[in-house]
Amino acid sequence: MCGIVGYVGQRDAAEILLEGLHRLEYRGYDSAGIAVFGENGIAIRKKAGRVTELAQLLERQPAIGSVGIGHTRWATHGAATDINSHPHVGGNGDVVVVHNGVIENYATLKDKLQERGYVFRSSTDTEVVAHLIAHQLEELIKLGDDPTDVKTAVTAVEASIKVLKGTYGLGILFRDLPGLLIGARAGSPLVVGVGKGEYFLASDSGPLVGHTSEIVYLSDNELVVLTPDEMKLTHRDSGKMVPSIQVLDQAAADSDLGEFEHYMLKEIYEQPTTIENALRGRLDDDAATAKFGDVNLTVQQLRRIDRVVLTACGTSWHSGLVGEYLIEEFARIPVEVEYASEFRYRNAPLSETTMIFAITQSGETADTLAAMRESQRKGHSTLAICNVVGSTIAREADGGIYLHAGPEIGVASTKAFTSQVAVLTLLALYFGRIRNMSYGAGQRIISHLRAMPETIQRSFACHDAVKEVAQKYYGADNFLYLGRNYNFPVALEGALKLKEISYIHAEGYPAAEMKHGPIALVDENTPSVFVIPRCGLYPKVMSNLEEVKARKGPIIAIACEGDDQIARFADDVIFVPDVEDYLQPIVTAIPLQLLAYEIALLRGCNVDRPRNLAKSVTVE
Ligand code: M6R
Repeated sequence: MCGIVGYVGQRDAAEILLEGLHRLEYRGYDSAGIAVFGENGIAIRKKAGRVTELAQLLERQPAIGSVGIGHTRWATHGAATDINSHPHVGGNGDVVVVHNGVIENYATLKDKLQERGYVFRSSTDTEVVAHLIAHQLEELIKLGDDPTDVKTAVTAVEASIKVLKGTYGLGILFRDLPGLLIGARAGSPLVVGVGKGEYFLASDSGPLVGHTSEIVYLSDNELVVLTPDEMKLTHRDSGKMVPSIQVLDQAAADSDLGEFEHYMLKEIYEQPTTIENALRGRLDDDAATAKFGDVNLTVQQLRRIDRVVLTACGTSWHSGLVGEYLIEEFARIPVEVEYASEFRYRNAPLSETTMIFAITQSGETADTLAAMRESQRKGHSTLAICNVVGSTIAREADGGIYLHAGPEIGVASTKAFTSQVAVLTLLALYFGRIRNMSYGAGQRIISHLRAMPETIQRSFACHDAVKEVAQKYYGADNFLYLGRNYNFPVALEGALKLKEISYIHAEGYPAAEMKHGPIALVDENTPSVFVIPRCGLYPKVMSNLEEVKARKGPIIAIACEGDDQIARFADDVIFVPDVEDYLQPIVTAIPLQLLAYEIALLRGCNVDRPRNLAKSVTVE
């Protein structure tokens, strides 16, 4: 959560920072602020609310200069107020800081700094960092160090971050060093964009798009010193480093809205392409299997695997559940799907033949990262199924599979879910084929997968029906989402989509489990969304549907084209193309994504920036 951006060069810093903050706003939108070095020192402009409000403030009170830092906040410590907005000032304005992360020992540090006379204005943990650096600076100056020497500033930062516990990505300016920007990273992502006579600092590659295609991904415990002409990189333990400059794929990092009104809608409609991208180059027709470039394990090693653990959060956890059904069915390998936030602290027994996958869109989710590190610490190589290239999880994993879905900006994950399911299908196919799956079965799966982009395209035909259903039910206070087998995780995902963007209480359940409790919620005001495509369990789900109908619950059915009996039982039917049962989640998720979107619009909610949420959850 929180996005930070920085610039040193010759251009208008405020403009670059604002543009960068717009691109980082998915990381948090409680407040935004910038600090720019001008002729009269460092000017700070900050405001609770969205980046557009900061932009309006800057029109009234410009901040002119060519060096600066900026921040968009997801509040952790202290309410979303102007005063708690970043940047924060240390000492008497000697240091200005933006921060992404959480300082866990801030209370102890704050007490000590207050005893020394530092006055705190905000209730954030970040202000501690600003005062701490100012304090270290003061101590160095007392010993005779020169405050206008870059070395003094660097030493003050190094001494300060040594005592910080928690996570941080930092951007730091010094009152006495006008052309200097220092960045530091531990646990929160940070990249540097390399330009001609200019450098950019950011939480991800988004703010670099259109400015430079040279990027350096910082690792934990690295500190970068930037001036318009120079970048110096050091690591806490290994000292001076040679930055590894990589080429930024501008198209992959670009995130324009195009013709769409919202990112969520754009991303839903991108799914034929994103599924195609997830499959591209990975279907091996000759061997009737899947192939991957970066798994970094031999067939012999993979064949020895007798247990799979999939760890993830939120929507990625739901795709993991689909993965469990897929891998167990295709490859007969037992699978466990673990909430990363639980797995990281559980001492789960893991044998040498257990394969661990972290599933994550952003590659920055704190709990998923910690779960991965914990299993690596125990000696288990861990693979990532990840979307964001160069993200922390992608870089630290022992191998992995990229989704290639392009930037997902809408807070509600849509295209990442279906791409994860597609990649997990490939993985299940691969594991199946190195075990007992026949050549013919492999071929059939490949041909069904290959048809998916076109099938998804056809499924958008349901959008008008979805709009009608949304119009009818958008006033409901509660929804149930029910499905079985491959469509149980889809029910969970549909409920999550609805609650996160429309603020309607929704519960996803295995359809048959409903009678063990949730059926008590059913009444004429509680719609139940049944995900009931044609499959072996169709008659069973139909019985569950009848149980709800008998209690006067309105029924919305997500059913297959050609199902001519469903309309007799459901109040509303949304048809989707008929596909093999193991591919249904990719198709049935689409009307549920659209339903959440349309209901949220009708309720006047901010679809792309729902309250209290952020796209990347980089705090524990
Ligand atoms: O980036 P990740 O896939 O690791 O994110 C995990 C969850 O935070 C994420 O899926 C969240 O649940 C979404 N907002 C759901 O739409």
